[in-house]
Amino acid sequence: RLASGVPERDVRFATVQDADLRFFESVLGQGGVVTDPHELAPFNKDWMGKYQGASRVALKPRSTEQVSALLRHCNERRLAVVPQGGNTGLVGGSVPVHDEVVVSTAAMNQVLSFDAVSGTLTAQAGCILESLDNHVAEHGYCMPLELGAKGSCHIGGNVATNAGGLRLLHYGSLHGSVLGLEAVLADGRVLDLLSTLRKDNTGYDLKQLFIGSEGSLGLITAVAIHCPPRPLSVNVSYLAVPSFEVAQQVFVRAKRDLGEVLSAFEFLDRESLLITLRNLPGAKDPLPACQAPFYLVVETSGSNAAHDGEKLERFLEDVMGEGLVIDGVLAQDGTQARQMWHIREGITEALRHRGAIYKYDVSMPIHAMYQLVEDMRERLASAFPQQAAAVGPPPSEDSGGSGSGSSSSSRDGPPIRVAGYGHLGDGNLHLNISAPAYDEALRHQIEPFVYEWTAQHRGSVSAEHGLGLMKAGCIGYSKPPAAIQLMRQIKAALDPKGIMNPYKVLPPPE
Ligand code: FAD
Ligand code: MLT
Ligand code: ZN
Repeated sequence: RLASGVPERDVRFATVQDADLRFFESVLGQGGVVTDPHELAPFNKDWMGKYQGASRVALKPRSTEQVSALLRHCNERRLAVVPQGGNTGLVGGSVPVHDEVVVSTAAMNQVLSFDAVSGTLTAQAGCILESLDNHVAEHGYCMPLELGAKGSCHIGGNVATNAGGLRLLHYGSLHGSVLGLEAVLADGRVLDLLSTLRKDNTGYDLKQLFIGSEGSLGLITAVAIHCPPRPLSVNVSYLAVPSFEVAQQVFVRAKRDLGEVLSAFEFLDRESLLITLRNLPGAKDPLPACQAPFYLVVETSGSNAAHDGEKLERFLEDVMGEGLVIDGVLAQDGTQARQMWHIREGITEALRHRGAIYKYDVSMPIHAMYQLVEDMRERLASAFPQQAAAVGPPPSEDSGGSGSGSSSSSRDGPPIRVAGYGHLGDGNLHLNISAPAYDEALRHQIEPFVYEWTAQHRGSVSAEHGLGLMKAGCIGYSKPPAAIQLMRQIKAALDPKGIMNPYKVLPPPE
């Protein structure tokens, strides 16, 4: 590894020559080969501005056949490749580490078919999640996943990362809703597993290998996915609770009282709220008069507006009447519902506006989850007494933010802030440390502490974002050596020259 923590370039890989560029142009035409430095820049930089590659070319195939020709050539020449979708990944998996060839799915954006009886959508990998949701909405269906990045992420990227998101509680993981996929292997072979069958027990379910493989086993070119009926009635509420312990009690009550219509149960702490109100354009506090340590976004999705609304109202009355919820509000219309979701979904963007972000995406038993945030706050407060507060600043100091999206100001709390939010219903915590700039001294205070803490609680160091480059050396915290060994064998069988997304997911062999 280089001093910066980036692995050294593997010298076994060739470098792109002019003859390679000519070959790429012969397959894609000039428009499909990006070499102009200005146009190339976004392919080399990740969404957070944390990871920077130095590729000299990005390729934009339109068809599976083109992907096959490109990968066959790269494999023969031993050119390393990084598959890229919407480039919204949060672990440095989607950008080159050195000079890997970027193969982008941006031009593979065709819907191939939709079966309005079964709700099965088949689409090329580069379709944007939100566009697909709009497409199936016309037939009364919705996509079985929802993320803050829906306007940019690709369905192929979602499958490659096994993205979770805000509705996993309701619709389950992509391991259940992806019915089939097509992938091109490193040597150009096309693996057509694009089945639309709900039931198919013929041998090993190979498509599952590609779900969450983060571009390390092949390039996903198309996906068949089962879409649930679009809910006819959606209700959203925003609740303030006095402790994380009580948040869990409210979750148990929501499961019992809202039953089959409960579609999301999300939480954010006060730090997350304050950072968002100050840094996210258009952010509006749904409970401006209430200063609580935790907030919940509870959503129902069903088919009967009167029944679902009544259920949620009664639930709210009960949990407030019993003193579990300090204050709560039920969205009266779509605008209010969007405002509530804007706060929760916008935390990621708000953090980005503030500067550097160290993001940790862990899962563990729900009761242990928030202790990690508190332990991290204490640890950083003692390591950096001038820069980090053990608890957030008094709310009056920070609330009423302009939401101007401007970078941190002296009123934006201490420079280092620790925020916790996430998918409480799925046992998935997003622990974020926000700082003015990336700093190795800070990182060494956080890592490996955060991974060791998670392993001690038998948690996962990657709940939904993947391992990417950031956590390529960390899989051992959550998987036994025998499993890692088997993963290496699978990788070697599918990609013997190791050209697919090198330096990512698995640690380098010892
Ligand atoms: P990219 O970022 O381009 O790539 C991600 C990884 O997949 C890389 O390793 C890449 O090599 C590989 N890859 C991409 N396309 C292919 C392909 N066709 N074949 C093979 N490999 C491929 N994630 C969640 O899980 N839940 C969330 O709630 C969530 N919310 C987010 C909110 C915001 C604001 C942002 C910025 C990100 C969020 N993410 C979330 C992370 C990210 O959006 C997801 O991981 C998403 O699935 C990535 O899709 P993408 O098309 O942008 O993939
Ligand atoms: C979320 O749940 O908001 C996403 O996973 C993104 C993030 O962790 O910031
Ligand atoms: Zn998430």
